[in-house]
Formats: sequence, C-alpha cells, structure tokens
Amino acid sequence: MGALEKAFYSPAGKAISAKAGLKEPPRLRRGRTWPQGSIVLASIGDGGFGGGTIGAEALTLLGRATESPVVDDQPETPAGYGARIGALVVDATELISIPGLEELRAVLRPAVRAIEPSGRIVVLARSEQDGWEAKAVTRALDGINRTVGKELRKGATATLLYVDADASPGDLVSTLGFVLQGRSAFVDGQAWRVSGASQPADPLDERPLAGRTIVVTGAARGIGAAIARTLARDGARIVAVDIPPAGESLAAVANEVGGTALQLDITAVDAGAIIAAHVATRGEKIYGIVHNAGITRDKMLVNTDAQRWGSVLDVNLGAQIRMNEVLLDPKTEGGVMEGGRIVGIASTSGLAGNKGQTNYAASKAGVAGLVAAMAPDLASRSITANAVAPGFIETDMTARIPFVQREIFRRSNSLSQGGQPEDVAETIGYLLDPRSQGVSGQVVRVCGQNLVGA
Ligand code: NAI
Repeated sequence: MGALEKAFYSPAGKAISAKAGLKEPPRLRRGRTWPQGSIVLASIGDGGFGGGTIGAEALTLLGRATESPVVDDQPETPAGYGARIGALVVDATELISIPGLEELRAVLRPAVRAIEPSGRIVVLARSEQDGWEAKAVTRALDGINRTVGKELRKGATATLLYVDADASPGDLVSTLGFVLQGRSAFVDGQAWRVSGASQPADPLDERPLAGRTIVVTGAARGIGAAIARTLARDGARIVAVDIPPAGESLAAVANEVGGTALQLDITAVDAGAIIAAHVATRGEKIYGIVHNAGITRDKMLVNTDAQRWGSVLDVNLGAQIRMNEVLLDPKTEGGVMEGGRIVGIASTSGLAGNKGQTNYAASKAGVAGLVAAMAPDLASRSITANAVAPGFIETDMTARIPFVQREIFRRSNSLSQGGQPEDVAETIGYLLDPRSQGVSGQVVRVCGQNLVGA
C-alpha cells in the first residue's frame, strides 16, 4: 500500500473524507493473484451460442478450470448465479451480427450482477472482420466494454482484447493471464490488440524475465523505482539510469534490486552509446528498455516559451528517439538483442489533452506515435515497441497537489482512486514478457478508466 493509500485509510484520512462525503474506495486485488470465484467461459456466435475456441484453449493453457455461463433468456425471471463469480470470459471472435450482440447481453447481464470485488469481464473479439455489419458490430463491442467498465463496482474491471485471425492460444496466454490476474488492477475499460506470433503453447511463467538485462530510465524514485522492483521480482537484471543529482537514491534502488546504477542525463547526445557501453562491459546485451524518465514544465500555451517547450520535448521524446536509434542498431555492441522489448511511458494527459500541458501532451502523444511507427519496422527482428499511459498515480509528484483537488483527480475514474506505481510497473512487466510477442505498437492505459478525455 502506498503512502497516500495508507493516508486514506488512516483515522484522520477517513474522518476528512467522510466529512467531504467521500466513500472509501474499493481495495483492489493486486499481484499474481487469480480471481477467487469461478471463471465462467461463454463462447458466442451468430445467434446460436457456439463460436470461437481460442478463449477456451488459452484458459486451458493458463490452467484455469471454467464453468458454463448463466444465460438471461427468460424475461419474467432474470437468471442468476448461485454465488459470486470471479470472472466472465466471452469468446466473441465469431461474432459478426447484431443478433450476436444479444447473446453478449444475455451472458453479461447475470455476470455483471454476480461478479466479485476485483472480478473481471473479458471479451475476446476479432480485430478484422469482413462486411459492414460485422465491422460495425466489432466497434460496438468497444462501446459495450467502456460502458460495462463504468457500471462495474468494487474494483471489478472490463477489458476488450482484439485478437488477430492468425493468433494462436499460446499468443494469448500472457495477455489473458495479465488481465485476469491482480497485476491489471488499474487497467479498466481498455481495448488492445494481440497478433499472431507463433508463441509456444506454454503456461504462464512466474519469472518471465529471469536473467534478462533491462534498462530503466528515471529509476531513482516514483514509478521508475517501482518498475525496477517489479521487473527484478520477475527475474530481470536491472540497469537503473537517472541524473547525477539523484545518484544516492539511484544507488539505493539499484542495490535493493541487485542491479547496477548508471548516472546519466538521457538528453546527452551520447546517452545511447554510454548505456550500450555499460551493458557491453558486463558481456551482456539489452533485452528491454523502459523509457520512464520524464518531466513536466506546465504553463498555459500563452505563457509557454521555447525553453519550457524544448526541455519537455527533449527529455520525454527526443532523447528516447536518439537512444533507440543507437541501441537498436544491430552493430551496437551492448545494444538491443533480437526478440527484445521497448516500452515508452505516455500519459492520459497526453492522449486526451490537458490544460496547461501543451508541451507535455505533445511529448506523450508523441510517444504513442513513436511506438506505433517503430513496431512494424522492428517486427522482422521480433522486437516489440509499446507504451503505457498512466492516469493519476500516487507518487511524490501527485502528493503535492492540494487535498481537495487531489481527491477530485484521483476519483475521476471508474475505480474511484489513484493508481499505485506498481500498477504501471506490472503493465510494463506484462509487455516485457517474452510471451507478449504478439503485442506491439499498442498503448495500454493504466488509468482506472480515467473519465477525462477520449
Ligand atoms: P518523478 O518525477 O517522480 O520521476 C522521474 C524520474 O526521472 C526522476 O528520478 C528524475 O530524476 C528522472 N529524470 C528526469 N529527467 C531526466 C533526465 N534528463 N535523465 C535521466 N533521468 C531523468 O516522476 P513519476 O511520477 O515517477 O513519473 C515517471 C514517468 O511516468 C514520467 O515519464 C511521467 O511523465 C509519467 N507519468 C506519471 C504520472 C503520475 O501520475 N505520476 C501520470 C502519467 C505519466
């Protein structure tokens, strides 16, 4: 539990919040935990119940037993489950028509009513369909997912996964495992795509990053430190990078995770070469880079000068592009290996736009554009590039916001609370998993379904 979450549950915090008429936010299930109740699997098609099988096969690989769904087909007596359920997984990969959407409603209604706290609703859909109605229906699923996310209570979340036709059950394992486990606690109402990557049909690995070298920039504190800890838990050898003034806390984080510290301003022109040399002297290659270092220099656009503009764009975007160019060059000793991973940090402020943050929004939306541009170019070397977009996360930065304003920000999402740095870190860990090969060029928001912006 983070300091601010502790504050909320402290007697003083409870008293202030009660006075302000605020309910205690639900405590979220986190970590490598599965739902407590049963996992219900529904395969729906085109009006006749019976559709795709990839959901069932992926759940088998995950070692999860499933139960049949209760179907709401009696208007007089709404059907219900006898007990709370842990998750509903709907395989809608064969769904192509409006009657098929009724099948979805009929399995969602009883499940939404019975879902346990921090339970999961997951819909699997095809990313590409032929025909106007099928394409429209595929998009309709996005509207359903976003709305179900907003209606679910007590920390339960909704996710829509678009699955390419060539994806195998093995390609889905890391993604479905992440979504069902507590690692995805603060990912809600989101949709992203899984492509075919011919992953072997292996179960989830508890330490998927064992022995792999991962560079984390901005690792001295906040989200970066949480990323270092979470990836080290999953077996990674961490190279923790931060500016020299943060050297002491950087060394503390690096020691704690058994990694190495590298004091470096990432805006230096030779930053990529310095990182590569650090890794090469240990006889290693980089498996993953997490471009986490970032700054804000907020002002309304009318007050934003070239200095504020340039510094934010350079730290948050320009430096990343320069480092990527060097580290992804196959000739660079100590560069990124084949099958490697790049993860950038965007922000919901960047994607949705935020008053007073034109420079920051430019840089963070730019990160989303960057990974989309890089992904196809890196595919032939099996390197993926993705971004996470955090919403309101409880860090030193957000702790400085005055109480009332902070309460408004942190509650402006479907889970009524701020996320923890570990929630961002867990999502990055999922994208770094070697089994997440089929996920590239994507942005996954870790924002509790932030109500602000698109
Ligand atoms: P933070 O300010 O607590 O930590 C950022 C770290 O990056 C610091 O240790 C800093 O020294 C380092 N850094 C800054 N400039 C650097 C440079 N030129 N070279 C090397 N290191 C440098 O920030 P926080 O909250 O942990 O954020 C981490 C990332 O997450 C940032 O990219 C931020 O934009 C992003 N983010 C944070 C959100 C939040 O609610 N805290 C929301 C959305 C995105």
